[in-house]
Amino acid sequence: MSINLQIKSFEEYKEKYAKSVADPEGFWSEIAEDFLWQKKWDSVLEWNFDEPKIEWFKGAKLNITENALDRHLAERGDKLALIWEPNDPKEQFVRYTYRELYERVCQFSNALKTKGIKKGDRVCIYMPMVPELTIAVLACARIGAIHSVIFAGFSATAVSDRVNDAQAKMIITADGLNRGAKQIPLKRVIDEALATCSSIESVIVYDCLGWDISMTENRDYWWHDVVKDEAKICSAEVMDAEDMLFILYTSGSTGKPKGVVHTCGGYMVYTAYTFQNVFQYQESDIYWCTADIGWITGHSYIVYGPLISGATTVMFEGIPTYPDAGRFWQIIDKHGVNQFLTAPTAIRSLMAYGEDHVLSYSLDSLKMLSSVGEPINEEAWKWYYLHVGKERCPVADSWWQTETGGIMISGIGNLSPMKPTFAGYPMPGIQPVLLDQEGNEITAANVEGYLCIKAPWPSIIRTTYGDHERCRINYFSHYKGYYFTGDGAKRDENGMYRIIGRIDDVINVSGHRFGTAEIENAINTNKNVIESAVVGYPHPVKGQSIYAFVVLDKVTEDALMTKGEIVESVVAEIGKIAIPEKIQFVTGLPKTRSGKIMRRILRKVAEGDVSNLGDTSTLLDPAVVEEIVANALI
Ligand code: WT7
Repeated sequence: MSINLQIKSFEEYKEKYAKSVADPEGFWSEIAEDFLWQKKWDSVLEWNFDEPKIEWFKGAKLNITENALDRHLAERGDKLALIWEPNDPKEQFVRYTYRELYERVCQFSNALKTKGIKKGDRVCIYMPMVPELTIAVLACARIGAIHSVIFAGFSATAVSDRVNDAQAKMIITADGLNRGAKQIPLKRVIDEALATCSSIESVIVYDCLGWDISMTENRDYWWHDVVKDEAKICSAEVMDAEDMLFILYTSGSTGKPKGVVHTCGGYMVYTAYTFQNVFQYQESDIYWCTADIGWITGHSYIVYGPLISGATTVMFEGIPTYPDAGRFWQIIDKHGVNQFLTAPTAIRSLMAYGEDHVLSYSLDSLKMLSSVGEPINEEAWKWYYLHVGKERCPVADSWWQTETGGIMISGIGNLSPMKPTFAGYPMPGIQPVLLDQEGNEITAANVEGYLCIKAPWPSIIRTTYGDHERCRINYFSHYKGYYFTGDGAKRDENGMYRIIGRIDDVINVSGHRFGTAEIENAINTNKNVIESAVVGYPHPVKGQSIYAFVVLDKVTEDALMTKGEIVESVVAEIGKIAIPEKIQFVTGLPKTRSGKIMRRILRKVAEGDVSNLGDTSTLLDPAVVEEIVANALI
């Protein structure tokens, strides 16, 4: 395959977009022709958003890894598929050609089969950002096992919740991981998690740090042992286009994280199509996305999109500030990176170290920059454009979600107009609308509304694992006939979209997504806590930070210690990434007479904007608010 799904001009974008709306089936079937199918589809699209039931390329048979690996062997066997850059710049990097990656994936696929993994089984992956993580993901896909990657910063409880929800048979992990100057144990977390997971039959452990760790006999196996006698070829399982490819857990406004399900055919077509267009990747380019494969960005734009397109994708083990704040820029020069994708929070954290770190690198290889995960503020956008892109490189802000599988609204290479803080235009095939509270479409320019999508695209969420009703309620019940994103947005007079942020109880901390209820539940496991309410507030680097209002059962004598215990509960239930930055003890929460917490008021307090708290007439006890305001941590 060549990289031939590319739009070449903004005019062509407009034509393609118009066609995709007028004839979605014709549009997507033409694109799908470019992939390797064992059998073509009987129908392109069948759908209704009521159940919801969405089927793309029904009846088609394929394996996504034949598209990501096998099909490149003839023309690109010796091309680099993966460049792995270690945490420590003094360590040697690793590079795999398409042929080498293919062989490793096949070998590990055979090892999974030997350990009894079959098509349809769920396999959890809790790993460092090492090449074996990519290999594990692809090996699951090759044999039809459903992977569920769990970000290696989640706690044992969070891991066991996900393992149990998916009833996974296997976990693939490592002894530990490198993160800047720190090393973090992983296998120890898995051992703790497995105390409450009965579905797990085996654990494969990759030796990342050379640690002497405890291995349970007949359950735990070293990666190097399980692969050593396996063949380097393995036939790919024949998958139906609508068979599950993976589950990825993400937070919503209620309850525990839910398992977002993506399927093989549509996800393949959409991630490759958007990769090739947004980044305008050319055959000899080196592309780098700094996300972790534990999140959707890593799934779609480190692994699947680039590899299906035959690209060279860079994978980085470390963090932006180790050994110093020039690390990203050093890697770009070292490997000659052409397209670079990172998160606004990373840009803002590096801005704080000053320009010198970025100015000492040439960055000549860069052709295009991109940002993802949260709204990018104007200052960060300009810094990125000026100091990293040297005013030569377009900055594409790409908006999408775990549930959308791929980029939805974004700049397209250097083709589309740019406007700081605006994500830009919908990708072909995407029909965004802004709705008012009553569900009417807003057509006027520069008005804010709820961002919804009118018609399905190939990588839309199919279900939430084990609970289809939850999928319907969360995404398809707010406004009949629309997919509900949970984001608010504005559209300007030229049709460009600006994402304002979540309108539901979801907080985005450094690009990590949490539900307020999820954090409150964690805080409430603390024995001294009666109840709590959590809100997000703007943070200069993280985008948002977490503010917790906590009611204790008795006045604490040692506030610092009690706060420490609350932090511990959050670390134990979710992980360090969800620690509230501010904890305020209160004697009561502002509630309506029907008992609903008025988060709007708490948000204002957390933002430090108490001059106008809005309508407080429905409050059960206004005195509570006075006390909260008087003791606010600002
Ligand atoms: C939420 C989805 C997209 C992959 C990484 C996050 C926010 C994402 C942008 C952007 C403004 C953005 C939204 C969205 N978001 N990208 N470019 N501009 N906001 O995936 O964890 O599923 O989070 O992240 O609020 O709903 P996720």
